[in-house]
Amino acid sequence: MTAENQQKQRKILVTSALPYANGDIHIGHLLEYVQTDIWVRFQKSRGHQCIYVCADDTHGTPVMLRAQKEGKTPEEFIQESHAAHEKDFADALVGFDNYYTTHSEESKELTQDIYLKLKEKGHISSKTINQLYDPEKNMFLPDRFVQGTCPKCDAEDQYGDNCDNCGATYTPAELKNPKSAVSGATPITKESEHFFFDLKEFEGFLREWLSTGTREGVPHVQAEVQNKMNEWLDDLRKWDISRDAPYFGWEIPGEEGKYFYVWLDAPIGYMASFKNLCSKRDDLNFEDFWGKDSDAEVYHFIGKDIIYFHTLFWPSVLNGAGYRTPSAVWAHGFVTVNGNKMSKSKGTFIKARTYLEHFRPEFLRYYYAAKLSSRIDDFDLNLEDFVQRVNSDLVGKLVNIASRCAGFITKQFDGTLSNDIIEPELLSEFTGASEELAQHYENREFGRAIKHIMSLADKANAYIANEEPWKLAKNDDTKERAHQVCSLGINMFKVLATYLAPVLPELADKVQDFLKVDSLDWASAQNVLTGHEINKFKPMMQRIDMKQVEAMIEDSKEDLQEEAQLDENQADEPQLDDPIKDEIEFGDFDKIDLRIAKIAKAEHVEGADKLLKLQLDLGKGVTKQVFAGIKSAYNPEDLEGKLTVMVANLAPRKMRFGMSEGMVLAAGPGGKDLWIMNPDEGAQPGMRVK
Ligand code: 2FM
Ligand code: ZN
Repeated sequence: MTAENQQKQRKILVTSALPYANGDIHIGHLLEYVQTDIWVRFQKSRGHQCIYVCADDTHGTPVMLRAQKEGKTPEEFIQESHAAHEKDFADALVGFDNYYTTHSEESKELTQDIYLKLKEKGHISSKTINQLYDPEKNMFLPDRFVQGTCPKCDAEDQYGDNCDNCGATYTPAELKNPKSAVSGATPITKESEHFFFDLKEFEGFLREWLSTGTREGVPHVQAEVQNKMNEWLDDLRKWDISRDAPYFGWEIPGEEGKYFYVWLDAPIGYMASFKNLCSKRDDLNFEDFWGKDSDAEVYHFIGKDIIYFHTLFWPSVLNGAGYRTPSAVWAHGFVTVNGNKMSKSKGTFIKARTYLEHFRPEFLRYYYAAKLSSRIDDFDLNLEDFVQRVNSDLVGKLVNIASRCAGFITKQFDGTLSNDIIEPELLSEFTGASEELAQHYENREFGRAIKHIMSLADKANAYIANEEPWKLAKNDDTKERAHQVCSLGINMFKVLATYLAPVLPELADKVQDFLKVDSLDWASAQNVLTGHEINKFKPMMQRIDMKQVEAMIEDSKEDLQEEAQLDENQADEPQLDDPIKDEIEFGDFDKIDLRIAKIAKAEHVEGADKLLKLQLDLGKGVTKQVFAGIKSAYNPEDLEGKLTVMVANLAPRKMRFGMSEGMVLAAGPGGKDLWIMNPDEGAQPGMRVK
């Protein structure tokens, strides 16, 4: 980028893929939102107008069926998941400017309007096709909702699009013994009129788009994607954009009982969310960003599985309807955990909420940043490496600089930094890294940025270790030098915190407070603090350990049990009760120390969705603190004074909110339906239950 560009305030609109309303946010999603959020925070810190929007992807058959299964209307269902998603993102420090929904007026208007424009220009055609139909539920079945025996290898219970066993792909009609996954009925084949968007007509436009880039010289897609697109461009087909009723989505104007396929309105959700934001903010104008002649930049961050939709359909739809097209589409790879696909049974399919119940969001943000590049390679979250990096880089290197220096400044130098900067060359190595690091952030080479920042942290620590201010401070002759060394240390720390602020925004807030500075935006790295008063240092980050990781994995397995239970309880047919577990010996049972406990105190835990914090009194002055997942069923005030039963000898677990020293017993499927044990009258706290 030229110096001229740097001074100009850029107008940038950024999106992440819209998560489906019928699923929880998990750590795989978070890779993308964290990547995007870091880039956006970086642009904002450079003083650009950078707007980050997203929304729930609410339409389609899976959402409709899931709502039915839960006995809710789709509208109720998507509203609940919207609230949950919004909270997950906020707690992960993903700072959207707007988090909206595709089930909104803006989305309906834009989708219908775009369709009508495409139709007017002759890009839409219709054709009668044959599709599998559920005669009991009276609905056409998407491929994933037909199950049967694989026509190639005879594996049973395979989906209608491909076989998990042999990898074969086929159409649902080719499955042997097909069954509707919705009702179990045998599907019939039925005709229906469908509407198509003629992608082929955009081949020329797409080839041109592919071979050019933005004004900043950034290609529209990554090199790896270019190759893929070139293959696809040789074989463009018409895209089926309609679905039959019943469907949860927007009806096609003038075509009763026909709905837009969810993938048509999903990316329009980016525009709809931005349009909604424009209605709330005077400084934003929809046309400025989406009009044909817009001089704004528009970037989409996505996963590699949805490249086709974003690099072929989406630019063509925009172009056909007379809008500007994306400046670039940036794809990332999938998250693996400890080298393997995330697995529900292994407990490595970790929901954002479960992660957040055990760790601070910034630890994952840092780990993701430290290993991210601009490429599409898959990303391995190695949990041992995660613990090790957080401890060694963030606690051991970064925060250590401040904690080694701050005490002296507060205790011996009146909380005021020295007027002199000794070793100005050393400090300029830190401030001078600004442009190179900015380039790394700009190019989404976060791993390179982090590596450089940590090498500076090493330099700062080596300098302090070498100067030994703790010795200098003891002697009157050298005391002033201790002041200077520690002041330089604090200045180096400030520069690093500024560079890391897009990754660690909460830490940046703490540092701002500690250093009593107005801002830690990018340019502020150049402001050297001399003769400046600072606050007393408070610990900023604590070390983590593998026990916490193990607890998180355990909880992820529990989530799965809860879900399985929920599914069972909601199935239409009568179900067997939860089967009794494998037999155990009396000795196994006797290892469990069950005690009567009095709930002396019960309180909400800030930031925890499911947990209440209980102080359990076992009598004789013995108390245990337990975090119990019963918030959905109990108000804390109703619990205080009650007797219950606890497992008193469960190994203590360190949770994000404190230690949990046992477990209370409860029955029920979950949610509001959870009941804790109460002993009969007469039982006293501390009594053994056997
Ligand atoms: O793959 C998905 O999770 C989709 N819900 C992404 C939609 S992105 C955009 F096009 F809306
Ligand atoms: Zn097969």
